[in-house]
This record gives sequence, structure tokens and C-alpha cells, in this order.
Amino acid sequence: MTLSDVVLEKLRLAACAASERAYAPYSEFHVGAAVLTESGEIFTGCNVENASYGLTICAERNAVFQAVAQGQRHLLACAIYVKGLRVAMPCGACRQVLREFGAEMEVLCFSDAAEPVRRTLGDLLPESFGPESL
Ligand code: THU
Repeated sequence: MTLSDVVLEKLRLAACAASERAYAPYSEFHVGAAVLTESGEIFTGCNVENASYGLTICAERNAVFQAVAQGQRHLLACAIYVKGLRVAMPCGACRQVLREFGAEMEVLCFSDAAEPVRRTLGDLLPESFGPESL
């Protein structure tokens, strides 16, 4: 499936807005994510840190869980935004969680530099384990 430029821009803006709500007093690394569902809806998440550091949740997983909590289990794309010129790629844990709900999804990593890094989930997590592996 090809995503239109309009949808890509919506995802970028949603991820950007979500990054403003990041709770990251320890790392000061503010991440926003936006997932597109097959219903055409966009759900967002930010990273939420904790004084007990290991309890931190990443922006991407937060966004996925928002979608699933609203009954959406098929994700077509995930945009990730961090301020600055360098993109952040999703961590390993988030790749696996994204995989559960969108083996074919597109992942777009935005910074303030011109072009996003655009990958398929399959590129980021080859030969993955998923629901149909059980
Ligand atoms: N973080 C994300 O939100 N997504 C990632 O894929 C990588 C890391 C967050 C977690 C933590 O709050 C901060 O970035 C630094 O690791």
C-alpha cells in the first residue's frame, strides 16, 4: 500500500505534536509517535519516563497501545519524530510490538532534516516472530 503525501504529512505532524507531550525529565529525549490504522485513524503516543527508570514506556509502544485500546489492531504505518537533525530509529522492543499489529507496516522516522528515513517493518525486524508463529 502506498501512503499519500497528505497522510504522511498528517502522521509527521501528529508525531511532532505528541513529542511536545513527552515526559522525559531523566533523558530529556522527547519522542513522539503516530500510528495509522486500517480504519484511517491516527493514534499518538509519547515517551513517558519514571523515577524507576526501567518502567519507562517508549513513544511507539504508547501509540500502539492507544490504538489497540480503541479497538484497532491493524496498523499500516508508524511515524516517529524527535527534534533536531538526527532521526531516532525504533528500539528493539518497539519493533517487536509494532510487528504484532502490522507485519507489513511502513516506519517513517522524522527529524527536522529534509527527508525521513523510510523502512518497512520487515527491513527493521527480519525473520520475525509473530502471532502466526505460535
Ligand atoms: N525512546 C522512545 O520513546 N522510543 C524509542 O524507540 C527509543 C527510546 C525513549 C525512551 C526514553 O524515554 C528515551 O527515549 C531515551 O531512551
